[in-house]
Amino acid sequence: MTHTLSTFNPGTLAFAASNSEKTKEMSEYYERLFPDLGNSIRVRVRYFDDFVKNFIDGGLRQLVILGAGYDTRAYRIEGLKGKITVFEVDHPDTQSVKIEKVKEIFGILPDYVTYVPVDFETETLGESLVAQGYDRSLKTLFLMEGLTMYIPPKVIDETLSFIVRNSGKGSAILFDYYPQSVVDGTCELEVGKNILNYTTQQGEPLQFGIREGIVEAFLVERGFSRVQNVTAEEYKKMYFHGINKDRKVCNLLSFAQAITE
Ligand SMILES: C[S@@+](CC[C@H](N)C(=O)[O-])C[C@H]1O[C@@H](n2cnc3c(N)ncnc32)[C@H](O)[C@@H]1O
Repeated sequence: MTHTLSTFNPGTLAFAASNSEKTKEMSEYYERLFPDLGNSIRVRVRYFDDFVKNFIDGGLRQLVILGAGYDTRAYRIEGLKGKITVFEVDHPDTQSVKIEKVKEIFGILPDYVTYVPVDFETETLGESLVAQGYDRSLKTLFLMEGLTMYIPPKVIDETLSFIVRNSGKGSAILFDYYPQSVVDGTCELEVGKNILNYTTQQGEPLQFGIREGIVEAFLVERGFSRVQNVTAEEYKKMYFHGINKDRKVCNLLSFAQAITE
């Protein structure tokens, strides 16, 4: 299995800068295959950013970014540096590439970011985090962006269980997910079938989804409270206004957030 870093990684941007025609063709191809998913992913980045910023204002002490890839929040969101410990957790193969890139850009690895190499399929997240200085008593935000779909359900359960039992009061999770029908191949929408076929062909088969309408019950059963599901229709309304108001989003990508108490 390969481990993609990010749809918008620096390699992609460098390629785009010097191959504009080819890039246009590729983006049109992906838009035909996955209509409006690109817009959903753009909103996702903004929604997750805003969530982090609100948490910083609300007394956040640790930020744990699971499956970080080329997530740049640690380096660009104000208020993290010097105040909040950031843990970037990722597959060792992808994380080693990221670390080299961060060193190349900043000349040094930032001292408030701790890199935790973990293969979720074979290693235990909790043990690795604690060994790297994660403090179970602090208010912590866990992000899983573009991750849950690639992880086996059992590992999702273990991860949620670790978070509920090992984080300070008022800690939170935020993740995005597909409906179970996309993962098990019963989704009738063409975009759903295309997502499944494409990820399978890429060697990154979808492994986890949540049945429509049950995310609240799913997270409450696992010990979370104040669960909020954010549908495509809702995030479109939140972010696409004015000249962007007619932009469409992909109904298959939702966000979910919850608190530990
Ligand atoms: C689609 S990328 C998302 C990256 C980033 N969060 C973003 O939104 O741009 C999926 C990420 O999950 C990580 N990942 C996938 N399977 C993993 C596994 N078994 N263990 C650890 N990380 C994994 C990959 O290394 C990659 O960084």
